[in-house]
Amino acid sequence: MALPPLVPAQTAPAVPGARMWGGRFSSGPAPEMDRLNRSLPVDRRLWRQDVAGSRAWAAALGAAGVIDLTEAADLRAGLDAVEKKLEGWTDADWAAAADEDIHTLVERLLGETAGPVAGKLHTGRSRNDQVATDFRLWALDAAKLLDAELRDLQAALVEQAHKHGDTVMPAYTHMQRAQPVSAAHWLMSHAWPLARDRERLADAVDRVSVLPLGSGAIAGCPFPVDRVLLKESLGFRAVSRNSVDAVADRDWVAELLFVMSMAGVHLSRLAEDLILFASSEFGFVRLSDQFSTGSSLMPQKRNPDAMELARGKAGRLIGELTGMLALLKGLPSGYNKDLQEDKSSLFAAFDALSDVLPAVAGTVRTMEFDAARCAGAVDSAMLATDVADFLVRRGVPFREAHGAVGKLVRAAEGLGCPLSALPRELFVQVSGEFADADLDAMFDAKASVQARAAAGGTSSASVQAQLAELTATL
Ligand code: ARG
Repeated sequence: MALPPLVPAQTAPAVPGARMWGGRFSSGPAPEMDRLNRSLPVDRRLWRQDVAGSRAWAAALGAAGVIDLTEAADLRAGLDAVEKKLEGWTDADWAAAADEDIHTLVERLLGETAGPVAGKLHTGRSRNDQVATDFRLWALDAAKLLDAELRDLQAALVEQAHKHGDTVMPAYTHMQRAQPVSAAHWLMSHAWPLARDRERLADAVDRVSVLPLGSGAIAGCPFPVDRVLLKESLGFRAVSRNSVDAVADRDWVAELLFVMSMAGVHLSRLAEDLILFASSEFGFVRLSDQFSTGSSLMPQKRNPDAMELARGKAGRLIGELTGMLALLKGLPSGYNKDLQEDKSSLFAAFDALSDVLPAVAGTVRTMEFDAARCAGAVDSAMLATDVADFLVRRGVPFREAHGAVGKLVRAAEGLGCPLSALPRELFVQVSGEFADADLDAMFDAKASVQARAAAGGTSSASVQAQLAELTATL
């Protein structure tokens, strides 16, 4: 039986631009298909990683004898030249490139500088293991930047805490005045969640740092490349163990999105506190001009926009995480094109968080506390627990002490006076222990703060210990 006559591949490409495939097609993709399929506008961010990964792959092919050493050297020199060229590219250059994705673009430019040897680079490699490698390399760098930004925000909180060990303010539960704490203790309450974020990030990085290259499209590489050397040269911690899993594993993307979302939630909670505290009603802090904005209509306005954007971006981050999980849940084994969407998610989350973090750090660093307003908001009813604790120290069971002080609170409410202004007779009526009590000392908010000296409490000693412990991680 006669074979059908050979036709030239892609005689009439519908859209211009380089592709790594096409031999089995009689035409190029339709413009609509190309528009949907092309990822260069997003994955151009991976160009450095793509060049680095290709350099390592060329060396691995050379070392394995798959290509000869001159060819390996020519590929290396060509990739160096591509790197130089791309370093000089402007947005207009990128917009003019019609290539399908970053891998196609780098290989095309390599062909233009190194000649036909460029056609040997993709031996034993697929874009499936290539893109997974590039993206992980990018994420390792991104994680370092995020860690530095989280650390800087912690440093800003610590700087303020050093200044406000003696500033007393109300702490709230249910958004109701609860007990006095030092402003330093409140500041540190926002530094510790960031310490956990940094721990989570470092832990996730262990699983990002796994090399997929050498997995091919799905079944592995038929050439004897040394994947351990490859991992060393690219700076990965480990080599992926199963090629089917390696080309489709995006657990690490979801994990990083969770770490970023959690950090976003922490920033949002800090922002919410500061939005309240900077309001005229609270007036505990004044945000600097540098990190406030005005209103186009109301001349008096001073808006905490950075904080509101921090709160808003947390919603976007959570959206990226849930979107990624939804994308992954129905995928059959191996690479599927759905996975191309992973880049825009992680890039968007990274951009959002790394825009927000420096602005939040700047806001914290430059804000000023109004110590008088903070202290003024501590009313004597907030020391009711301390009054009960006085009775406990005299041997009264806590439950009984709680009831006795509750009666005093009710009496003060009835008389419309502060708890501390009740006459001593009323104190003595609810408990004889009050007969010789130093009532003034009992209603001293600073003393209440210092009394909480168990580890993790608001006393100066405990806050100093927190500061020392956290500073050691900066
Ligand atoms: N642009 C693709 C992505 O980001 C690269 C991998 C393409 N693989 C494929 N078999 N078409 O996922």
